[in-house]
Amino acid sequence: MNKTASVSEDEIRKWIGMLRAIRKYRSLDLPDALLRDLIVEELSRHSSSSEALKAVRRKLHNIVAPYLGDPDYTTAQKALEAAFTDGSPQSVREFCLSMLASHASTRERIPLLDEFYSRLWKITGLPQTLLDLACGMQPFALPWMGLPTLTRYFAYDLHRPRVDLINQFFQRSGCRGSAIHEDILVNPPQIEAEVALFFKEAHRFEQRRRGACLPFFQALRVRWLLVSLPISSLKGTRDLEDRQRRLMQSILGGQTWEVTEIRFENELVFCIQKT
Ligand SMILES: C[S@@+](CC[C@H](N)C(=O)[O-])C[C@H]1O[C@@H](n2cnc3c(N)ncnc32)[C@H](O)[C@@H]1O
Repeated sequence: MNKTASVSEDEIRKWIGMLRAIRKYRSLDLPDALLRDLIVEELSRHSSSSEALKAVRRKLHNIVAPYLGDPDYTTAQKALEAAFTDGSPQSVREFCLSMLASHASTRERIPLLDEFYSRLWKITGLPQTLLDLACGMQPFALPWMGLPTLTRYFAYDLHRPRVDLINQFFQRSGCRGSAIHEDILVNPPQIEAEVALFFKEAHRFEQRRRGACLPFFQALRVRWLLVSLPISSLKGTRDLEDRQRRLMQSILGGQTWEVTEIRFENELVFCIQKT
């Protein structure tokens, strides 16, 4: 049953307010576009409002993924200022490492930092413009990325305190670019770039909306789209490699894009040459 036609703007606003008030999301200032998209979608799928609300809450939990970890952002802002005031590259790197360690996706890459990004650029070349889509804490790997100082780096996430901290970091590092607070599924970035990174999120996009990835990939104006998927479960107990490869094949089925794989210990990167 499709209920969207009967849902008033007032009702949507009421739901948005309710979701924003949930304790674990209160400080995150989640984009309206995200909340509206989930509400409209779930109302169209469920005949009962309470079932729709439950489904929205389940999806939101999976999208925001608070269980992957966060620093205390107020403390992190102060630590960032202290590291840059100290001014030694070592202090800045130590601060960055603590940010990378605060979130499961980036924590796994710490042992590989010295080789991870150079292996990507070996395939794509060094980007002049880089998009980091659903970035999480990855921008704090900047000191290990080996990018030219003129590279413009645009990072996207829907978590406001994270986006603010990354902007503070970019400004203090003299990095050209910025972090942007946006739901990239509803509003795919339109900045032209040589390379876009979309790491450890494609499987969640498909859980949010089956079939969401391909139109999203098509909408991006980039030469190289690097999509990674985790190949071990969070607890490290399950091998997901074949499953993730099948998922990418099903997403890309019918496309003529050339794809090169890079396999790291916990992560498989599909380097998709779009143009
Ligand atoms: C699993 S983490 C991956 C982080 C990073 N890409 C990495 O691999 O280190 C997912 C991140 O994507 C963000 N995210 C999820 N859906 C998003 C969307 N539609 N638009 C923007 N950011 C999104 C979340 O807030 C979270 O920071």
